[in-house]
Amino acid sequence: MCGIFGITSKRRSDIGHILVEGAEKLTYRGYDTVGVATVYKGKILLRKDRGKFDEVATKLRLAEMPGSKGIAQLRWATFGAPSKVNAQPHYDCDEDLCGAHNGNIVNYLPLREQYTGEGHTIRSMNDGEICVHAVERYYDKSGDMVEAIQKGCGDLHGDYAFAIMNMKDDKVYAVKMGSSLFAGIGKGETCVSSDLPSILPVTRRIINVLDGEMVILSPERVELRRINDGAPIEREPYTSDADIRVAQKGGYPHFMLKEIHEQASSTRSLFSAIREPFVTQFEDALLDAKRIFFVACGSSYNATVVASYYLNALAKLPSISVVGGQFVSMYGESVGEDDVVVCVSQSGETKDVIDVVHHCRNRNARILSVVNVLGSTLTQLSHLYLPLGCGFEISVPATKTYTSQVTLFSYLATRMGLRRGTLARETGEGLLNDLQKRLPPLIEQTIATTEIKARALAPYLANYPHFYVLGYGLTHGVALEGALKIKEVCYIVADGMYSSEFKHGPLSIVTNGYPIVFTVAPNDSEELVNHLSEVECRGARIILTGEDHPLLRRYVAEENYLVVPNSNHYLSPILQVIPLQLLAYYLATYKNIDPDYPRNISKTLTVR
Ligand code: BG6
Repeated sequence: MCGIFGITSKRRSDIGHILVEGAEKLTYRGYDTVGVATVYKGKILLRKDRGKFDEVATKLRLAEMPGSKGIAQLRWATFGAPSKVNAQPHYDCDEDLCGAHNGNIVNYLPLREQYTGEGHTIRSMNDGEICVHAVERYYDKSGDMVEAIQKGCGDLHGDYAFAIMNMKDDKVYAVKMGSSLFAGIGKGETCVSSDLPSILPVTRRIINVLDGEMVILSPERVELRRINDGAPIEREPYTSDADIRVAQKGGYPHFMLKEIHEQASSTRSLFSAIREPFVTQFEDALLDAKRIFFVACGSSYNATVVASYYLNALAKLPSISVVGGQFVSMYGESVGEDDVVVCVSQSGETKDVIDVVHHCRNRNARILSVVNVLGSTLTQLSHLYLPLGCGFEISVPATKTYTSQVTLFSYLATRMGLRRGTLARETGEGLLNDLQKRLPPLIEQTIATTEIKARALAPYLANYPHFYVLGYGLTHGVALEGALKIKEVCYIVADGMYSSEFKHGPLSIVTNGYPIVFTVAPNDSEELVNHLSEVECRGARIILTGEDHPLLRRYVAEENYLVVPNSNHYLSPILQVIPLQLLAYYLATYKNIDPDYPRNISKTLTVR
């Protein structure tokens, strides 16, 4: 996934500054290449290169680029290796147009051949350049940007958004065709971006752009048109109340550590974000469903694994968790109008999930979603969604959004258990109270009691290129998430798996001192003794997150015991991911890895 930011202004002639400020807020979307184009004295200036944002911005003095309009792009490479020539934005053949995209042009190669055959000068191997030439083909004939963009989009297949400008007018043009795009109206300037954080320094007056729409920015005005027939669209801007400070580190060395420490407040704000009647309608849909599918990727998928255990344990409801890319080949032929597909995504833009939504909508299945980014494509495509209310999550590894997802699902499962009578009233109401009242302080306590130990374990774990994270029942998804954090930011192959499965093969890896991380829910302590002893007796060094339990203490040395405060069997799994997040954070920083921008990955992937 990439990030695009475009702006036109009558207030500034040093547009480089605001382009750099906007782009900087999109770095979590891609950090393989960076580029900025501005229009100055009737020419399009373009500076771009491979490398991290700060390095390239300083080297090419991007902030000093003059002009009153421009486009910036940050790239996560798919088509075309990370290089200067493949960096965006891209010129057209004669440098009178310049544009950049985010997303995926799936017919890129045939178009590249066709345009080359028509005499176009195509400089790169990047599909973003094809968007520019697609517009150029028509613009050169008519000189009409709007018509050229409409026709150009007719050539392009895939999910994308792009911004483009010419050197003649004071406008920036953009289209949304499946990837995220927002517009902002400021005083004497307007802008578009893949995400809100980069718009807020310019303005809080936001216009959501829907798929199939074109945005025409002039310094004073944002115009919306339907791409297929050019019809004008009237849409009122809304005022975003998003807290911009969330997009800053607030004194923490990294966003990841800051966002780990924000989990008490983010789980609290979840309960002000979700509203009636939508929560009840969400439950009604699940209770009426023939089958419940959870569809998600990465950390969101791991949260759905925990959700399935909660639905079973608290509401006696079966559900199936599936990774986005696997759904169609596994259930695509049988999903139908009686099924409910719950899509879970922090960004609301993950392509593997969006593809499932399109497939299931075509089969009349009901689409529910749980999303953190409001106005995202998934919120636009869902029949009903519940917001997480975590605010921006900047660091590539998800932390606070995962915890809020799990908290939401345990809340819904508890309420459905009460509605179905599968949960005693007292137990259920006690749990609901715990989730809303006790959880935030318990999270703060968990950080306080485990952070130092987690940091102290880093030097030891850094010696191992691989190890296992084992969970059981409700903590299965917690172990998957702990392992994913370590894979994402430590470049260590941590495998998360169900602890009862470990003896069926992987146990062979254990030698003296080999690390095995366990995460144990309170009611499973005795049950897990077997799994602990079978690795301990072969010399493994056990690291464990869980409540303090004398039985477990027999297998875990003090320095390896990441004790979470006592709560209960259903609340504890939410707490137990936190020591694993801290372990991953301190292991990454111990290995001098920037956990916010781990190599090769990106916060949200808008490509298949
Ligand atoms: C990956 C991120 O690209 O997408 C993960 O690196 C994330 O951290 C996953 O969990 C899913 O993203 P989302 O936005 O759909 O929850």
